[in-house]
Amino acid sequence: MTDEIRSAIVAACLEMNRTGLNQGTSGNISVRLGESMLVTPTATPYARLTPGMIASMTIDAEDGAWQGPRAPSSEWRFHRDILRARPDIGAIVHCHATYATVLSMLRLNIPAAHYMIAAFGGPEIQCTDYAPYGTSELSALAVAGLGRNHGVLLGSHGMIATGCDLDEAMWRAVELETLARTYYLSRAIGQPVILPAEEIARLTERFANYGAMGRREV
Ligand code: 13P
Repeated sequence: MTDEIRSAIVAACLEMNRTGLNQGTSGNISVRLGESMLVTPTATPYARLTPGMIASMTIDAEDGAWQGPRAPSSEWRFHRDILRARPDIGAIVHCHATYATVLSMLRLNIPAAHYMIAAFGGPEIQCTDYAPYGTSELSALAVAGLGRNHGVLLGSHGMIATGCDLDEAMWRAVELETLARTYYLSRAIGQPVILPAEEIARLTERFANYGAMGRREV
């Protein structure tokens, strides 16, 4: 199981850079494994990343202790704190996707201008204030901005997408960047229409079954 997840994390890192969702050594990924989390190592080029380099940390531990040949991502705090706050979340993808980052630089929340926002559990994706990378301050902002949703923009930084597993978190990362891109483009030529809150609430319920039926093998 551990080997499988480690390999899946490496594959996801390569995919997010290959598809342009992320670049360089930016971004990081974690997956819950029982009482622990597996998390990408810090400052490691994904092309050289191997499953054995993925670090392991106990979710309950306060001291940041880790196991592995390499230190965990500098963002281990927000990975740990989100997994603590949200038992429903099994995987977290953080990346510096271009349009999500542009909106974060403008401190713009993403409103319900497209129905796919419902896949994130609510009518709006929040954008947090800025805090330096790797800090407890950033972690607190990320947890609060995420709330009960599955996506958040980090001010002047990037985005976080979450899911019950890595496939779902990666799917949402792509969808969040698409929401950011289409919102940006629609605002460039006009004022996008915002869908009613009741419609988003209805769709959010439908999306609760969407993954299980359409995307995951069950
Ligand atoms: P790490 O290389 O430490 O994971 O940091 C990259 C990053 O995106 C920080 O926000």
